[in-house]
Amino acid sequence: MAAVIAGLGGWLPPKIVTNDELCESLDSSDKWIRTRTGIQERRVVTAGLSTRDIAVEAGARALKSAGESTTDAVVVATTSADRLCPAVAPEVAHLLGLDTVAAFDITSACSGFLYGLATSAGLIAAGAAESVLFIGAEAFTTLVNPEDRNTRPIFGDGGGAVLLRAGRPGQLGSVGPIDLGSDGAKADLLAIPAGGSRQRAASGGLGFDAVPTEDWYLHMSGRALYTQAVERMTQSSRTALARAGWRVDDVDWFVGHQANARIVAAVAEELDLPAERVAVNIDKVGNTLAASIPLLLTDYAARGALRPGDRVLLAAFGAGLSWGATTMVWPKLAVDAFR
Ligand code: UT7
Repeated sequence: MAAVIAGLGGWLPPKIVTNDELCESLDSSDKWIRTRTGIQERRVVTAGLSTRDIAVEAGARALKSAGESTTDAVVVATTSADRLCPAVAPEVAHLLGLDTVAAFDITSACSGFLYGLATSAGLIAAGAAESVLFIGAEAFTTLVNPEDRNTRPIFGDGGGAVLLRAGRPGQLGSVGPIDLGSDGAKADLLAIPAGGSRQRAASGGLGFDAVPTEDWYLHMSGRALYTQAVERMTQSSRTALARAGWRVDDVDWFVGHQANARIVAAVAEELDLPAERVAVNIDKVGNTLAASIPLLLTDYAARGALRPGDRVLLAAFGAGLSWGATTMVWPKLAVDAFR
C-alpha cells in the first residue's frame, strides 16, 4: 500500500507587495532583498482573509484536480492557524462541504509539507482513510513584526494542497520513503516567544500588557538558520535518495522549500544537481512555510515543466528545528495555474 498524489492545487491572496512597496516603511532596499534572498514580491492577506480561507481555496483546487467532491480526512499543515485553539482543519473541512470527516492540524513550520505528507500517508497505511486532502496553508505575515527588517521581507502568504489516495508502491505519484528529523536544542533560532503556555504560565494568565510587543512576533537568527538549512536539507535529501534507491543523476527536479534562493542553490550545489533541475518560485511568493512545496509543485505542473514520469526530490527545513525529504515519480494530473 502507498499514498498516491491524485490531485494538486494552490492559491495566493490577491494583494501583491513588491520590495519597493515594502521598503517604503522598512529600512531595507529592493537590491538587498533580491540579492540576499531572491525575493521580488510576495502575497499578503488583507482584512477578511485568514489561513482558513486560503486553505479552503487551495483544498477546493486539489479536489477539483482529482475530480473528487469528497474525501475521508482533512489534514492542514500550518504555523499560522486562525486561532490558538481549535485547529483550523475542521472548519476548513466544513467550508469545503466535507461534512464530519476527520480533520486536524499539524504544526511543523516550514517542514510542514513533509511532516504532513508522512502523517497523511500514515492515515492511509493505517486504514483510517482511503483518501486524504492534505493542505499546507499560511497567513504567516500576520506573525511577523512589520518593523523588523530581518524577517518582514522574507515571508509571504498562500496555500497549496494535494489529494492523496491509497494506491500501489511504484505507481506514478506514489510517495516514496520519507526521511524526517528534528533538533529541539536549537528551538530558539526561530520562535515566537509569546502566546503559548510558557508565557501565559509566567504571567499567571494575567498581565499580558507586560509582555514586550516584539515577543508576540517571530524572532529569527538568520545566519545560524542558513547554515542549518543547507546542512539538514542536503543530508535529508541524501537519505531519502538512498532509501528510494536513486542516484542524484536520477533526479529530474529538486523541489526544495523556498526559504531563500541562495539556500536552495547551495543545497543543489552540495548534491551536485545542475541549476536547470532546480525548481524556484521564491521570487514571486517569498517563504510561505508549509505552503511552499505544494505551491512550487503547482507552479511547475500547471505550466507543464513538471511532466508525468519526472523523478522529483522534495526537501524542507524549518523551525523546531525540523526537516524532511522524500522522492516521487510525477503523475499525470490536471492542474490549474494559480497566478
Ligand atoms: O524557512 C526556514 C527558516 N528560515 C531560514 O532558513 C532563513 C535562513 N536565513 C536566511 O535566509 C538569511 O540569513 C537572511 C536572508 C535572513 C539574512 O541574510 P544574510 O546574508 O545571512 O544576512 P545577515 O543576517 O548576515 O546580515 C547581513 C547584513 C547585516 O548588516 P551588518 O551587520 O553586516 O552591517 C544586517 O544588519 O545585512 C543587514 N540586514 C539588512 N539590510 C538591509 C539584515 N536584513 C536586512 C534587510 N535590509 N532587510
